Amino acid sequence: MGHSLNAALLQRDHRHLVHSLHSEKTHLDGRVWVRGEGCELLDADGNRYIDAMSGLWNVTLGYGQPALVQAAASQMGELAYASGYSGSSNLRAMELAERLASLCYPSINRFFFTSGGGESTDSTIKTARYYWKAMGKPGKYKTISLMGGYHGTTLASMCATGMPAYWPSFEPRMPGFVHIPNHDRYRYPAVEGQDPGLAAANELERAILAEGPDSVALFLIEPVCGAGAYVPPPGYLQRIREICDRYEVLLAADEVITGFGRTGRLFALDHWGIEPDLVQFAKGITSGYVPLGGVGLSDRVAEVFDRADSVPWMHCYTYSGHPVACAVALATLDVIESQRLVEAATRLGDRLHQGLRNALGDHPHVGDIRGLGLMAGVELVADRSSKASFDPARKIGPAVISEARQRGVVTRGRGDTIYLGPALVASEALVDRVVDVIADSVRCVIDGT
Ligand SMILES: Cc1ncc(COP(=O)(O)O)c(C=O)c1O
Repeated sequence: MGHSLNAALLQRDHRHLVHSLHSEKTHLDGRVWVRGEGCELLDADGNRYIDAMSGLWNVTLGYGQPALVQAAASQMGELAYASGYSGSSNLRAMELAERLASLCYPSINRFFFTSGGGESTDSTIKTARYYWKAMGKPGKYKTISLMGGYHGTTLASMCATGMPAYWPSFEPRMPGFVHIPNHDRYRYPAVEGQDPGLAAANELERAILAEGPDSVALFLIEPVCGAGAYVPPPGYLQRIREICDRYEVLLAADEVITGFGRTGRLFALDHWGIEPDLVQFAKGITSGYVPLGGVGLSDRVAEVFDRADSVPWMHCYTYSGHPVACAVALATLDVIESQRLVEAATRLGDRLHQGLRNALGDHPHVGDIRGLGLMAGVELVADRSSKASFDPARKIGPAVISEARQRGVVTRGRGDTIYLGPALVASEALVDRVVDVIADSVRCVIDGT
Protein backbone atom coordinates (compact mmCIF):
# COMPACT_ATOMS: atom_id res chain seq x y z
CA MET A 1 0.00 0.00 0.00
CA GLY A 2 2.98 2.27 0.98
CA HIS A 3 2.69 5.47 -1.03
CA SER A 4 -0.59 4.86 -2.78
CA LEU A 5 -3.22 7.55 -3.16
CA ASN A 6 -5.59 5.24 -1.27
CA ALA A 7 -3.26 5.19 1.75
CA ALA A 8 -2.89 8.98 1.71
CA LEU A 9 -6.66 9.42 1.51
CA LEU A 10 -7.18 7.11 4.47
CA GLN A 11 -4.85 9.29 6.55
CA ARG A 12 -6.82 12.35 5.51
CA ASP A 13 -10.14 10.62 6.19
CA HIS A 14 -8.98 9.70 9.66
CA ARG A 15 -8.51 13.29 10.77
CA HIS A 16 -12.18 14.31 10.57
CA LEU A 17 -14.42 11.30 10.06
CA VAL A 18 -15.90 8.85 12.53
CA HIS A 19 -17.01 5.67 10.80
CA SER A 20 -19.71 3.14 11.51
CA LEU A 21 -18.11 0.43 13.70
CA HIS A 22 -15.17 2.83 14.09
CA SER A 23 -11.92 0.90 14.40
CA GLU A 24 -8.63 2.56 13.57
CA LYS A 25 -6.87 -0.71 12.91
CA THR A 26 -9.48 -1.97 10.46
CA HIS A 27 -9.72 1.39 8.84
CA LEU A 28 -6.06 1.81 8.00
CA ASP A 29 -6.26 -1.29 5.82
CA GLY A 30 -9.41 0.05 4.13
CA ARG A 31 -10.24 1.22 0.65
CA VAL A 32 -11.52 4.59 -0.50
CA TRP A 33 -14.05 3.94 -3.22
CA VAL A 34 -14.24 6.40 -6.04
CA ARG A 35 -16.53 4.77 -8.59
CA GLY A 36 -19.10 2.02 -9.02
CA GLU A 37 -19.91 0.34 -12.33
CA GLY A 38 -22.48 -2.45 -12.44
CA CYS A 39 -21.31 -5.03 -9.87
CA GLU A 40 -17.81 -3.56 -9.61
CA LEU A 41 -16.13 -0.95 -7.44
CA LEU A 42 -12.99 1.06 -8.18
CA ASP A 43 -10.69 2.27 -5.41
CA ALA A 44 -8.62 5.45 -5.33
CA ASP A 45 -5.62 3.63 -6.82
CA GLY A 46 -7.68 2.54 -9.81
CA ASN A 47 -7.98 -1.11 -8.70
CA ARG A 48 -11.20 -2.83 -9.71
CA TYR A 49 -13.09 -5.27 -7.45
CA ILE A 50 -16.25 -7.34 -7.67
CA ASP A 51 -18.63 -6.17 -4.93
CA ALA A 52 -19.69 -9.63 -3.74
CA MET A 53 -21.99 -8.34 -0.99
CA SER A 54 -23.64 -5.52 -2.96
CA GLY A 55 -22.48 -2.86 -0.50
CA LEU A 56 -24.12 -3.96 2.76
CA TRP A 57 -26.58 -6.32 0.99
CA ASN A 58 -28.35 -3.22 -0.34
CA VAL A 59 -27.10 -2.31 -3.83
CA THR A 60 -29.34 -4.91 -5.43
CA LEU A 61 -29.37 -3.24 -8.86
CA GLY A 62 -25.63 -2.60 -8.97
CA TYR A 63 -23.99 0.78 -9.50
CA GLY A 64 -24.83 3.38 -12.12
CA GLN A 65 -28.41 2.38 -13.01
CA PRO A 66 -29.50 5.28 -15.23
CA ALA A 67 -33.21 5.00 -14.30
CA LEU A 68 -32.46 5.57 -10.62
CA VAL A 69 -30.11 8.48 -11.30
CA GLN A 70 -32.71 10.05 -13.57
CA ALA A 71 -35.54 9.53 -11.06
CA ALA A 72 -33.58 11.31 -8.32
CA ALA A 73 -32.51 14.21 -10.53
CA SER A 74 -35.93 14.84 -11.97
CA GLN A 75 -37.66 14.63 -8.57
CA MET A 76 -35.13 17.06 -7.08
CA GLY A 77 -36.00 19.51 -9.85
CA GLU A 78 -39.75 19.05 -9.40
CA LEU A 79 -40.06 18.97 -5.59
CA ALA A 80 -36.91 18.30 -3.59
CA TYR A 81 -38.58 18.03 -0.21
CA ALA A 82 -41.98 18.13 1.47
CA SER A 83 -42.88 17.57 5.11
CA GLY A 84 -44.61 14.30 5.76
CA TYR A 85 -46.15 15.44 9.03
CA SER A 86 -49.93 15.10 9.17
CA GLY A 87 -51.43 17.83 7.05
CA SER A 88 -48.74 17.59 4.35
CA SER A 89 -47.97 14.94 1.73
CA ASN A 90 -46.44 14.45 -1.70
CA LEU A 91 -47.31 12.42 -4.76
CA ARG A 92 -44.25 10.14 -4.78
CA ALA A 93 -44.87 9.03 -1.18
CA MET A 94 -48.50 8.23 -2.05
CA GLU A 95 -47.52 6.37 -5.20
CA LEU A 96 -44.92 4.34 -3.34
CA ALA A 97 -47.35 3.41 -0.55
CA GLU A 98 -49.94 2.34 -3.16
CA ARG A 99 -47.36 0.33 -5.06
CA LEU A 100 -46.13 -1.41 -1.92
CA ALA A 101 -49.71 -2.21 -0.88
CA SER A 102 -50.15 -4.02 -4.19
CA LEU A 103 -46.85 -5.93 -3.88
CA CYS A 104 -46.51 -6.73 -0.19
CA TYR A 105 -48.32 -9.39 1.89
CA PRO A 106 -52.08 -9.15 1.22
CA SER A 107 -52.96 -7.91 4.71
CA ILE A 108 -50.27 -5.18 4.71
CA ASN A 109 -51.73 -2.06 3.14
CA ARG A 110 -50.47 1.01 5.06
CA PHE A 111 -46.91 2.28 5.23
CA PHE A 112 -44.82 4.63 7.33
CA PHE A 113 -41.50 5.68 5.80
CA THR A 114 -38.17 6.14 7.58
CA SER A 115 -34.61 6.74 6.43
CA GLY A 116 -33.18 3.30 7.18
CA GLY A 117 -33.32 0.01 9.04
CA GLY A 118 -32.63 1.16 12.59
CA GLU A 119 -35.31 3.84 12.40
CA SER A 120 -37.64 1.18 11.03
CA THR A 121 -36.95 -1.06 14.02
CA ASP A 122 -37.71 1.79 16.42
CA SER A 123 -40.87 2.53 14.49
CA THR A 124 -41.95 -1.11 14.64
CA ILE A 125 -41.37 -1.32 18.39
CA LYS A 126 -43.22 1.94 19.02
CA THR A 127 -46.07 0.92 16.72
CA ALA A 128 -46.52 -2.32 18.66
CA ARG A 129 -46.62 -0.43 21.96
CA TYR A 130 -49.05 2.13 20.52
CA TYR A 131 -51.27 -0.66 19.19
CA TRP A 132 -51.57 -2.46 22.51
CA LYS A 133 -52.25 0.76 24.39
CA ALA A 134 -55.00 1.58 21.88
CA MET A 135 -56.36 -1.95 22.40
CA GLY A 136 -56.65 -1.30 26.13
CA LYS A 137 -53.64 -3.49 27.02
CA PRO A 138 -50.97 -0.98 28.05
CA GLY A 139 -49.03 -3.64 29.98
CA LYS A 140 -47.99 -5.29 26.71
CA TYR A 141 -44.74 -3.48 25.94
CA LYS A 142 -41.93 -6.04 25.70
CA THR A 143 -40.11 -6.98 22.52
CA ILE A 144 -38.73 -10.49 22.04
CA SER A 145 -36.13 -11.17 19.37
CA LEU A 146 -33.49 -13.74 18.46
CA MET A 147 -29.97 -14.07 19.80
CA GLY A 148 -27.85 -13.52 16.72
CA GLY A 149 -30.51 -11.31 15.15
CA TYR A 150 -29.49 -7.86 13.92
CA HIS A 151 -31.95 -4.98 13.88
CA GLY A 152 -29.77 -1.85 13.99
CA THR A 153 -27.93 0.25 16.56
CA THR A 154 -30.20 3.12 17.60
CA LEU A 155 -30.73 2.70 21.33
CA ALA A 156 -33.97 0.72 20.99
CA SER A 157 -32.86 -1.28 17.95
CA MET A 158 -29.56 -2.05 19.69
CA CYS A 159 -31.60 -3.54 22.53
CA ALA A 160 -33.52 -5.70 20.06
CA THR A 161 -30.28 -6.72 18.32
CA GLY A 162 -29.20 -10.05 19.79
CA MET A 163 -25.47 -9.66 19.27
CA PRO A 164 -23.86 -8.93 22.64
CA ALA A 165 -20.78 -7.27 21.11
CA TYR A 166 -23.00 -4.29 20.32
CA TRP A 167 -24.06 -3.73 23.94
CA PRO A 168 -21.34 -3.21 26.56
CA SER A 169 -20.09 0.26 25.58
CA PHE A 170 -23.62 1.63 25.65
CA GLU A 171 -25.28 -0.09 28.58
CA PRO A 172 -27.49 -0.02 30.52
CA ARG A 173 -29.84 -1.38 27.93
CA MET A 174 -33.49 -0.34 28.03
CA PRO A 175 -35.91 -2.52 29.94
CA GLY A 176 -38.47 -4.54 28.00
CA PHE A 177 -36.19 -6.49 25.64
CA VAL A 178 -35.87 -10.27 25.78
CA HIS A 179 -33.90 -12.65 23.56
CA ILE A 180 -34.50 -16.29 22.72
CA PRO A 181 -31.98 -18.77 21.27
CA ASN A 182 -31.39 -18.68 17.53
CA HIS A 183 -32.76 -21.46 15.31
CA ASP A 184 -29.21 -21.98 13.92
CA ARG A 185 -29.46 -25.51 12.53
CA TYR A 186 -25.74 -26.01 12.23
CA ARG A 187 -24.65 -25.38 15.80
CA TYR A 188 -27.81 -26.53 17.57
CA PRO A 189 -28.90 -29.62 15.65
CA ALA A 190 -32.03 -31.59 16.33
CA VAL A 191 -32.42 -33.60 19.49
CA GLU A 192 -33.37 -37.22 18.75
CA GLY A 193 -37.12 -37.51 18.29
CA GLN A 194 -37.70 -33.74 18.28
CA ASP A 195 -38.75 -31.73 15.25
CA PRO A 196 -36.02 -29.04 14.99
CA GLY A 197 -38.37 -26.39 13.63
CA LEU A 198 -40.96 -26.87 16.36
CA ALA A 199 -38.38 -27.20 19.11
CA ALA A 200 -36.64 -23.96 18.14
CA ALA A 201 -39.94 -22.09 17.73
CA ASN A 202 -41.17 -23.30 21.11
CA GLU A 203 -38.42 -21.19 22.66
CA LEU A 204 -40.70 -18.27 21.87
CA GLU A 205 -43.63 -19.84 23.71
CA ARG A 206 -41.37 -20.53 26.68
CA ALA A 207 -40.21 -16.91 26.78
CA ILE A 208 -43.73 -15.50 26.45
CA LEU A 209 -44.93 -17.69 29.31
CA ALA A 210 -41.91 -16.78 31.45
CA GLU A 211 -42.41 -13.06 30.88
CA GLY A 212 -46.19 -13.28 31.08
CA PRO A 213 -48.27 -12.98 27.89
CA ASP A 214 -49.85 -9.79 29.20
CA SER A 215 -46.46 -8.07 29.07
CA VAL A 216 -45.31 -9.05 25.57
CA ALA A 217 -46.11 -6.74 22.65
CA LEU A 218 -43.96 -7.98 19.80
CA PHE A 219 -41.78 -10.72 18.36
CA LEU A 220 -39.29 -9.30 15.85
CA ILE A 221 -37.45 -11.65 13.50
CA GLU A 222 -35.50 -11.60 10.25
CA PRO A 223 -36.87 -14.32 7.92
CA VAL A 224 -33.21 -15.16 7.18
CA CYS A 225 -30.68 -13.78 9.68
CA GLY A 226 -28.24 -11.47 7.94
CA ALA A 227 -25.56 -12.08 10.56
CA GLY A 228 -24.71 -15.69 9.84
CA ALA A 229 -27.11 -16.27 6.90
CA TYR A 230 -29.18 -18.62 9.07
CA VAL A 231 -32.30 -19.99 7.40
CA PRO A 232 -35.03 -21.24 9.78
CA PRO A 233 -35.72 -24.98 9.78
CA PRO A 234 -38.93 -26.23 8.13
CA GLY A 235 -42.03 -25.47 10.17
CA TYR A 236 -40.28 -22.92 12.38
CA LEU A 237 -41.91 -19.75 11.09
CA GLN A 238 -45.36 -21.32 10.78
CA ARG A 239 -45.14 -22.36 14.42
CA ILE A 240 -43.94 -18.84 15.36
CA ARG A 241 -47.07 -17.44 13.69
CA GLU A 242 -49.28 -19.82 15.69
CA ILE A 243 -47.58 -18.89 18.97
CA CYS A 244 -47.94 -15.17 18.27
CA ASP A 245 -51.64 -15.65 17.53
CA ARG A 246 -52.23 -17.77 20.60
CA TYR A 247 -50.65 -15.29 23.03
CA GLU A 248 -51.71 -12.09 21.26
CA VAL A 249 -48.20 -11.00 20.33
CA LEU A 250 -47.63 -9.01 17.14
CA LEU A 251 -45.26 -10.67 14.68
CA ALA A 252 -42.88 -8.29 12.89
CA ALA A 253 -40.70 -9.41 9.99
CA ASP A 254 -37.43 -7.51 9.66
CA GLU A 255 -37.02 -7.63 5.89
CA VAL A 256 -34.33 -4.96 5.76
CA ILE A 257 -32.07 -7.43 3.91
CA THR A 258 -34.57 -10.00 2.66
CA GLY A 259 -37.10 -7.52 1.24
CA PHE A 260 -37.24 -6.64 -2.46
CA GLY A 261 -36.09 -9.84 -3.99
CA ARG A 262 -32.82 -10.94 -2.42
CA THR A 263 -34.04 -14.37 -1.32
CA GLY A 264 -35.94 -15.12 -4.52
CA ARG A 265 -39.30 -13.76 -3.30
CA LEU A 266 -40.18 -10.09 -3.19
CA PHE A 267 -40.76 -10.54 0.56
CA ALA A 268 -39.24 -13.55 2.23
CA LEU A 269 -42.03 -14.86 4.45
CA ASP A 270 -43.68 -15.93 1.20
CA HIS A 271 -41.25 -18.86 1.23
CA TRP A 272 -43.14 -20.17 4.26
CA GLY A 273 -46.64 -19.03 3.36
CA ILE A 274 -47.21 -16.83 6.40
CA GLU A 275 -47.92 -13.13 6.85
CA PRO A 276 -46.58 -10.80 9.54
CA ASP A 277 -48.52 -8.09 11.40
CA LEU A 278 -45.74 -5.60 10.70
CA VAL A 279 -42.99 -5.72 8.09
CA GLN A 280 -39.97 -3.44 8.15
CA PHE A 281 -37.70 -2.79 5.21
CA ALA A 282 -34.88 -0.50 3.99
CA LYS A 283 -31.73 -1.26 1.93
CA GLY A 284 -32.99 -2.81 -1.33
CA ILE A 285 -36.05 -0.57 -1.62
CA THR A 286 -33.81 2.07 -3.23
CA SER A 287 -30.94 -0.28 -4.10
CA GLY A 288 -29.02 1.83 -1.60
CA TYR A 289 -28.96 4.89 -3.91
CA VAL A 290 -30.63 7.13 -1.31
CA PRO A 291 -31.58 6.37 2.31
CA LEU A 292 -35.11 5.02 2.69
CA GLY A 293 -36.80 2.50 4.94
CA GLY A 294 -40.22 1.92 6.35
CA VAL A 295 -42.75 -0.21 8.15
CA GLY A 296 -45.82 -1.83 6.60
CA LEU A 297 -48.85 -2.29 8.86
CA SER A 298 -51.44 -5.02 8.59
CA ASP A 299 -55.06 -3.91 8.33
CA ARG A 300 -55.62 -5.02 11.91
CA VAL A 301 -52.83 -2.75 13.19
CA ALA A 302 -53.66 0.13 10.83
CA GLU A 303 -57.23 0.15 12.08
CA VAL A 304 -56.17 1.72 15.41
CA PHE A 305 -54.71 4.69 13.51
CA ASP A 306 -58.13 5.46 12.08
CA ARG A 307 -60.20 5.39 15.23
CA ALA A 308 -61.82 8.75 15.86
CA ASP A 309 -60.82 8.60 19.51
CA SER A 310 -57.25 7.40 18.94
CA VAL A 311 -54.41 9.31 20.58
CA PRO A 312 -52.14 10.91 17.95
CA TRP A 313 -49.14 8.77 17.02
CA MET A 314 -46.42 11.02 18.43
CA HIS A 315 -43.75 9.51 16.19
CA CYS A 316 -42.21 11.41 13.28
CA TYR A 317 -39.15 11.94 11.13
CA THR A 318 -38.31 15.05 9.09
CA TYR A 319 -37.48 12.77 6.17
CA SER A 320 -40.47 10.40 6.39
CA GLY A 321 -41.89 10.05 2.88
CA HIS A 322 -39.03 12.06 1.34
CA PRO A 323 -40.10 12.63 -2.28
CA VAL A 324 -36.65 12.01 -3.78
CA ALA A 325 -36.19 8.77 -1.85
CA CYS A 326 -39.70 7.64 -2.82
CA ALA A 327 -39.06 8.50 -6.49
CA VAL A 328 -35.90 6.37 -6.45
CA ALA A 329 -37.81 3.54 -4.75
CA LEU A 330 -40.47 3.64 -7.48
CA ALA A 331 -37.76 3.48 -10.15
CA THR A 332 -36.11 0.59 -8.28
CA LEU A 333 -39.37 -1.35 -8.26
CA ASP A 334 -39.75 -0.67 -12.00
CA VAL A 335 -36.31 -2.17 -12.69
CA ILE A 336 -36.95 -5.16 -10.41
CA GLU A 337 -40.16 -5.89 -12.33
CA SER A 338 -39.02 -5.14 -15.87
CA GLN A 339 -35.78 -7.11 -15.52
CA ARG A 340 -37.48 -9.93 -13.58
CA LEU A 341 -34.89 -9.66 -10.84
CA VAL A 342 -36.77 -11.69 -8.23
CA GLU A 343 -36.58 -14.67 -10.58
CA ALA A 344 -32.94 -13.78 -11.24
CA ALA A 345 -32.21 -13.97 -7.51
CA THR A 346 -33.55 -17.55 -7.43
CA ARG A 347 -31.59 -18.58 -10.51
CA LEU A 348 -28.34 -16.87 -9.49
CA GLY A 349 -28.79 -17.95 -5.89
CA ASP A 350 -29.06 -21.59 -6.95
CA ARG A 351 -25.91 -21.15 -9.00
CA LEU A 352 -24.08 -19.50 -6.10
CA HIS A 353 -25.03 -22.22 -3.59
CA GLN A 354 -24.35 -25.05 -6.02
CA GLY A 355 -21.03 -23.48 -6.98
CA LEU A 356 -19.99 -23.12 -3.33
CA ARG A 357 -21.00 -26.72 -2.60
CA ASN A 358 -19.06 -28.01 -5.61
CA ALA A 359 -15.97 -25.97 -4.81
CA LEU A 360 -15.91 -26.21 -1.03
CA GLY A 361 -18.45 -28.81 0.08
CA ASP A 362 -15.76 -31.45 0.69
CA HIS A 363 -13.16 -29.14 2.19
CA PRO A 364 -12.24 -30.42 5.66
CA HIS A 365 -12.49 -26.95 7.16
CA VAL A 366 -15.77 -25.84 5.58
CA GLY A 367 -18.36 -26.66 8.24
CA ASP A 368 -21.49 -25.25 6.68
CA ILE A 369 -22.66 -23.56 3.49
CA ARG A 370 -26.06 -21.98 4.05
CA GLY A 371 -28.41 -19.22 2.99
CA LEU A 372 -31.29 -18.60 0.61
CA GLY A 373 -31.31 -17.00 -2.84
CA LEU A 374 -28.58 -14.41 -3.15
CA MET A 375 -27.73 -14.58 0.55
CA ALA A 376 -25.02 -17.05 1.43
CA GLY A 377 -22.71 -17.80 4.35
CA VAL A 378 -19.69 -20.12 4.39
CA GLU A 379 -18.67 -21.12 7.92
CA LEU A 380 -15.07 -22.24 8.36
CA VAL A 381 -14.24 -24.54 11.27
CA ALA A 382 -11.14 -26.06 12.83
CA ASP A 383 -12.72 -29.51 12.96
CA ARG A 384 -15.59 -30.53 10.76
CA SER A 385 -16.76 -33.50 12.80
CA SER A 386 -16.85 -31.72 16.17
CA LYS A 387 -17.74 -28.35 14.58
CA ALA A 388 -15.07 -26.78 16.77
CA SER A 389 -14.27 -23.21 15.74
CA PHE A 390 -10.80 -21.97 14.92
CA ASP A 391 -9.01 -20.09 17.67
CA PRO A 392 -10.39 -16.56 17.13
CA ALA A 393 -6.84 -15.19 17.54
CA ARG A 394 -5.98 -16.83 14.21
CA LYS A 395 -8.52 -14.58 12.48
CA ILE A 396 -9.09 -17.12 9.72
CA GLY A 397 -12.28 -15.44 8.41
CA PRO A 398 -10.69 -11.97 8.13
CA ALA A 399 -7.64 -13.55 6.46
CA VAL A 400 -9.85 -15.20 3.81
CA ILE A 401 -11.66 -11.92 3.20
CA SER A 402 -8.35 -10.09 2.89
CA GLU A 403 -7.02 -12.75 0.50
CA ALA A 404 -10.19 -12.47 -1.62
CA ARG A 405 -9.70 -8.72 -1.81
CA GLN A 406 -6.15 -9.23 -3.07
CA ARG A 407 -7.73 -11.38 -5.75
CA GLY A 408 -10.28 -8.72 -6.70
CA VAL A 409 -13.41 -9.65 -4.69
CA VAL A 410 -14.65 -7.60 -1.74
CA THR A 411 -17.06 -8.97 0.81
CA ARG A 412 -17.64 -9.11 4.56
CA GLY A 413 -18.12 -11.71 7.25
CA ARG A 414 -18.38 -12.27 10.95
CA GLY A 415 -15.88 -14.39 12.79
CA ASP A 416 -15.06 -17.29 10.48
CA THR A 417 -18.27 -17.03 8.44
CA ILE A 418 -17.87 -15.40 5.02
CA TYR A 419 -20.94 -13.67 3.57
CA LEU A 420 -21.77 -13.53 -0.10
CA GLY A 421 -24.61 -11.53 -1.64
CA PRO A 422 -23.98 -10.35 -5.18
CA ALA A 423 -26.39 -7.91 -6.81
CA LEU A 424 -29.58 -9.24 -8.42
CA VAL A 425 -28.29 -7.90 -11.75
CA ALA A 426 -25.11 -9.99 -11.57
CA SER A 427 -24.18 -12.18 -14.53
CA GLU A 428 -23.69 -15.93 -14.16
CA ALA A 429 -20.01 -15.42 -15.00
CA LEU A 430 -19.67 -12.94 -12.13
CA VAL A 431 -21.27 -15.36 -9.66
CA ASP A 432 -18.90 -18.10 -10.87
CA ARG A 433 -15.93 -15.77 -10.47
CA VAL A 434 -16.96 -14.94 -6.87
CA VAL A 435 -17.18 -18.67 -6.07
CA ASP A 436 -13.77 -19.36 -7.61
CA VAL A 437 -12.07 -16.50 -5.76
CA ILE A 438 -13.61 -17.42 -2.40
CA ALA A 439 -12.69 -21.09 -2.84
CA ASP A 440 -9.12 -20.19 -3.86
CA SER A 441 -8.86 -17.79 -0.91
CA VAL A 442 -10.06 -20.44 1.57
CA ARG A 443 -7.52 -22.94 0.19
CA CYS A 444 -4.75 -20.35 0.20
CA VAL A 445 -5.33 -19.27 3.82
CA ILE A 446 -6.11 -22.67 5.33
CA ASP A 447 -4.09 -25.09 3.20
CA GLY A 448 -1.38 -22.70 2.08
CA THR A 449 -2.01 -23.67 -1.56
C1 LIG B 1 -32.00 -7.01 9.25
C2 LIG B 1 -31.53 -5.61 9.53
N1 LIG B 1 -32.29 -4.80 10.26
C3 LIG B 1 -31.92 -3.54 10.54
C4 LIG B 1 -30.72 -3.04 10.08
C5 LIG B 1 -30.31 -1.64 10.42
O1 LIG B 1 -30.36 -0.84 9.28
P1 LIG B 1 -29.58 0.55 9.23
O2 LIG B 1 -28.12 0.25 9.22
O3 LIG B 1 -30.10 1.16 7.95
O4 LIG B 1 -30.00 1.33 10.44
C6 LIG B 1 -29.90 -3.86 9.29
C7 LIG B 1 -28.61 -3.35 8.78
O5 LIG B 1 -27.73 -4.07 8.37
C8 LIG B 1 -30.31 -5.18 9.02
O6 LIG B 1 -29.54 -5.99 8.29
